[in-house]
Amino acid sequence: MNLVDSERRVLSGMRPSGQMHIGHYHGVLKNWVKLQHSYDCFFCIVDWHALTTDYEDVSLLSKHVQDMAIDWLACGLSPSSATLFIQSQVPEHAELHVLLSMLCPLSWLERVPSYKESQEQHQGRDLGTYGFLGYPLLQAADILLYRAGIVPVGSDQLAHIEFVRDVARRFNHLYGREPGFEVKAEAAIRKLGKKNSKLYNSLRQAYQEQGDSEALDTARALLKELQNITLGDKERLLGYLEGGGKLVLPEPQAMFSESPRLTGLDGGKMSKSHNNAIYLRDTQEQVEEKIKRMPTDPARVHRNDPGEPARCPVWPLHKLYSSETTCDWVQQGCTSAGIGCVECKQPLIESVQQDLQPIQLRAAEYEDNLDVVRGILASGAERARDEARDTLVEVRQALGMNYR
Ligand code: TRP
Ligand code: SF4
Repeated sequence: MNLVDSERRVLSGMRPSGQMHIGHYHGVLKNWVKLQHSYDCFFCIVDWHALTTDYEDVSLLSKHVQDMAIDWLACGLSPSSATLFIQSQVPEHAELHVLLSMLCPLSWLERVPSYKESQEQHQGRDLGTYGFLGYPLLQAADILLYRAGIVPVGSDQLAHIEFVRDVARRFNHLYGREPGFEVKAEAAIRKLGKKNSKLYNSLRQAYQEQGDSEALDTARALLKELQNITLGDKERLLGYLEGGGKLVLPEPQAMFSESPRLTGLDGGKMSKSHNNAIYLRDTQEQVEEKIKRMPTDPARVHRNDPGEPARCPVWPLHKLYSSETTCDWVQQGCTSAGIGCVECKQPLIESVQQDLQPIQLRAAEYEDNLDVVRGILASGAERARDEARDTLVEVRQALGMNYR
């Protein structure tokens, strides 16, 4: 049996939408770059998910995948620290998806809040498709295939992660029984030592008899801390807490990054579809022009009208990019009409340009060496497949499908 330390394993995915903007960078990629040094990270370009909405026009798909890969690498994601791959190059995602589809109640999919919402959002396209309804289940397969314990996502993904947990729980409940499970679990408890086994037993009892969920959390935390037990025993003891059996597919946790969502050039959410984004590969001139064109506090009709940064879409960018001194200067100058908006934007333009420069230099190198990018993704897919195959061995075994 191949065991995975789920607590250390991170998986996240992004739909290939083409070039990344500074909102992706500050909101997501910087966090991933940090995580890759302390966790066992898998980052996936989910091209099948793109097809769930954009199946009619696939002309840009491969270009979008390539651009996303280039931008990930340019931002500092590194194939020596993380596994970077394309979903469709790991067909095991499809196998797990089909198996999970057998046990996933339709009603669970229909009640995922994003289902109706995004169907309305994408009006004009027929999203009454099988694939679109199954979007969250495909996402569940992405995560569970690697037995990832941690999924860094935006808070808009909370319902999806809850859904993944429900699916994992249902799978474990249906198929997680191994022969002699109770005997093995009891043996594992004895291996904890006197003090810890007593504690484990009383917490398990409190949960099972009184439904004390705090006791459940405490027991999980206890198991997490213990160094001297095997991962196999750890999985058994986690499963035994809730009764059932072994955890074949551990339930993942969402991990939200602390950075707030960046506002777009017009004050709305920064996104490609709103055409209000600064892209990582925008030229210096484009950056300058975009910032210069940004609307400001509507109260500042004339140069002499005092303004209020809190009402101005430029302000969040200053807070992100400018020093405290500059922010004070903006705050002071804006509210007293001491500075004009053109003047206010100048230091911002310079720091955005400076911040982007090293990213752009790296991106240009990858653009000139597309074979390198393809190679990185191919070996990422190989690495991902190795892990995915291990999980599927366990999954098939749990389903009694290990024919020999
Ligand atoms: N649904 C996610 C989004 O729109 C993308 C995604 C697909 C994902 N598979 C995933 C995110 C697995 C995290 C883990 O952002
Ligand atoms: Fe916005 Fe700066 Fe103009 Fe104030 S001075 S309204 S913060 S651009």
